Amino acid sequence: MSTDPLVIFTPSGKRGRFPAGTPVLTAARQLGVDLDSVCGGRGICSKCQITPSYGEFSKHGVTVAEDALTEFNEVEARYDRIRGLKEGRRLGCQAKVQRDVVIDVPPESQVHKQVVRKEATMRDIVMDPATRLYYVEVAEPDMHEPTGDLERLQRALAEQWEIGEVRTGMAVLRKLQPVVRKGNWTATVALYKGHNDTHDTILDIWPGFFEGRLYGLAIDLGSTTIAAHLTDLRNGSVLHSAGVMNPQIRFGEDLMSRVSYAMMNPGGDVEMTAVVRGAINALAQSLAAEAAIDPGQVMEAVFVCNPVMHHLLLGIDPVELGQAPFALATSNALSLTAPDLELTAMNPSGRVYILPCIAGHVGADCAAVALSEEPHKSDDLVLIVDVGTNAEILLGDKSRVLACSSPTGPAFEGAQISSGQRAAPGAIERVEIDPATKESRFRVIGSDLWSDDPAFAEAIGATGVSGICGSGIIEAVAEMRMAGIVDGSGLIGSAEQVGTPRCEATGRTHSYLLFDGSAEGGPRISVTQGDIRAIQLAKSALYAGARLLMDEMGVDKVERVVLAGAFGAHISPKHAMVLGMIPDAPLDRVFSAGNAAGTGARIALCNVASRREIEETVHRITKVETAIEPRFQEHFVAANAIPHATAPFPELHKIVTLPDVSFNTAGSGEDGGRRRRRRG
Ligand code: FES
Repeated sequence: MSTDPLVIFTPSGKRGRFPAGTPVLTAARQLGVDLDSVCGGRGICSKCQITPSYGEFSKHGVTVAEDALTEFNEVEARYDRIRGLKEGRRLGCQAKVQRDVVIDVPPESQVHKQVVRKEATMRDIVMDPATRLYYVEVAEPDMHEPTGDLERLQRALAEQWEIGEVRTGMAVLRKLQPVVRKGNWTATVALYKGHNDTHDTILDIWPGFFEGRLYGLAIDLGSTTIAAHLTDLRNGSVLHSAGVMNPQIRFGEDLMSRVSYAMMNPGGDVEMTAVVRGAINALAQSLAAEAAIDPGQVMEAVFVCNPVMHHLLLGIDPVELGQAPFALATSNALSLTAPDLELTAMNPSGRVYILPCIAGHVGADCAAVALSEEPHKSDDLVLIVDVGTNAEILLGDKSRVLACSSPTGPAFEGAQISSGQRAAPGAIERVEIDPATKESRFRVIGSDLWSDDPAFAEAIGATGVSGICGSGIIEAVAEMRMAGIVDGSGLIGSAEQVGTPRCEATGRTHSYLLFDGSAEGGPRISVTQGDIRAIQLAKSALYAGARLLMDEMGVDKVERVVLAGAFGAHISPKHAMVLGMIPDAPLDRVFSAGNAAGTGARIALCNVASRREIEETVHRITKVETAIEPRFQEHFVAANAIPHATAPFPELHKIVTLPDVSFNTAGSGEDGGRRRRRRG
C-alpha cells in the first residue's frame, strides 16, 4: 500500500494519496474536486482558497498534524498583506501536501457552487456559467517561428488550460496586440462556450490578471413590465434587480392589440421592436450604474418572454401569431450576439440566449416556469399557473406534461376594475369582510396595519388609499361571496337583501362600498357589478384552461397547485379557491412560487447545461390549444359561477361554508354565460 500522504476533501468526500510536495490544487484537479482557479495556480487570482482542518478525524480515520501542509509561503503572505486572507485559509495552489490532511473547499472557492434559494419550494441553482475567465501567459513572437499573437494565445490556452478549438471575433482581434503587450505577454480572457458549441469563443481580453468580474442579465420581458436581474456569473448573486413598464403599452395594452397594431400600421412592428430594445438598453444601463460596474463586463443576457414579445424583440413581424394556426417563425431556443438585438448596454461581443417557445401561444416564459418548477420531475400531479395578462398553465408529473395558455385579460392586474390599479403603495391588497355585520377591513401595500387599527391613517399618511390591486380585488370578491354579499352567479345583493347600507344601488345593479375617503377629499372605492363580471371572465378563462389540461390528462383532481408570477405570489390560495380560479385541492397543497419565469431565466443564465435540459423538456411537453378546443367554451361557461356551477369543490367546503343566497329576483338580464375571448 502506498505510504504517500492521504488527502481528503470536504464537502465532496473525495480522497486520494499524493506524493509529498503536491500542491493542494493539483490534488483537487486529479480527484475532480470542484476547486476554482482563474490564474492556473500562479498565485494571482486567489480563487483557490481552502481551509485545512487539523486534529483527529475518526470519521475519516486520519489524524492531521500541524505540519500536514507546507508553511505559509511568500505568495500567500503577500496576498494576505494586500487583500487579507481569512483566518485559517490557504491558497490551494501554494500550499503543498506533506502528510495526511483534511481540506475543506469553502463555497466561494467552488466553481459549481449551489446558490441556495430561501424559498423552500424552489430549486437551487448550481453555478455552471457559459462564460468564464482564464489567465494565460502567452509566448512572445519569434522571428524564426512566425506565428500570429492569436495563434500563440490559442496555444497557451491549450497548454495551460487544455482548451481545444478557440475562435474569436473582430472586436477582440483588433485589441489583441496592444492588450498582450500591455500585459507583458500575460492576459485574462473571457471564454464563452454555449451548450451546443464544440469550440470556445473569446468574448473579451484584458492585459495581465483581470481583477474584475463577469456579469449577466436575466430578463423577463413581459407585455406589461420588463424585469431584469443583474447577476454575478461567478456566484449567481443578484447585484440589482429592476423593472420598467414595457413602453409598447402605448401601442396596445394586451398582446393581440399589439399584433393588430402591426397589422394595421405598416412598419408598426419595427417601431415596437425599437421601443422595447431601447427600454431594455436603458434598464441594463441603469442596473450597471446602480451596481457601479462597467457594462462591458456584462457578457450574457438570457430572455424569457411570451411569443409575441419574443417576435417583437427579435424584430420579426408577429402577424402570424394573431391568427390560427398561430405559427411561430421559430420555436427553438436561440443563441445570438448582443449586436443581433442592438443591445448596447453590455459587452459588444456579449451573448444572448432566448429560451425556446412551447407553441404559438405558449412562450419562452412558460418554458422558463417549467425550468424553474420542474413539473417533468414531479412525483405528484402538479398544476402550475403563471397568472398574468395571459395565464400560462402547466399540468403534469414525471410521466407527462401538458401546457396551454389562457386569455385571462388584465383584470387580475387591476385593469378593467372600476377602482383598479397596479400593485403599488396605497393599493388595497388584502380584504376581510365580517359575515355577520358585512363590515370590511383592509390593508394597503406599504403598511402592515389593517384599516381598523387606530394607527392606520397615520401609517398610510404618505400614500393614502388610492385603489385596489389584483390580489385585493380577488380577496374582495371572495370575501363578498363568503359573507353572502354576492351570490353564486356573481350578483351583488341590494342593501335590503344583504342587510348593509354598504350595498349601494348603481343603476340596475349594486355595488359594495369598501372605503369612503370622500370626507377627506379621497376616493370612494367600491366593488361594482362590472368588476365582479370582469373577475368572473378572467377566472373562468384561467379555470377553463386548467380544466382542459385535466381532461386531456384524464384526471379530475390535481395533487398540488403552484401559483406563479409576480402577481401569483400575492394571491391568497384560499380566496383563489373560493373564487374558483383554480381547481379544488387541499389548501395545504397550494403553493406560491413567486416569479418563476424570472427564476427560470436566472437558472439558464447561471447554468449552461440547464439550457439543453429545457430544450429537451420543451420537446416533450404536449401543447394544448385553447382557442380551437370546444370543451374550453363549456368549461368557461360552467366556471362563471363562484366558485363553479357544477364542480363540487369538496376540499374547499371542508374549510369554508358558502352562504346559499340568490339575488336574481328580476329574471336573468345578466351576461353570466357569455364570454369574451381575449388574447394578451
Ligand atoms: Fe490562482 Fe491559486 S489558483 S491563486
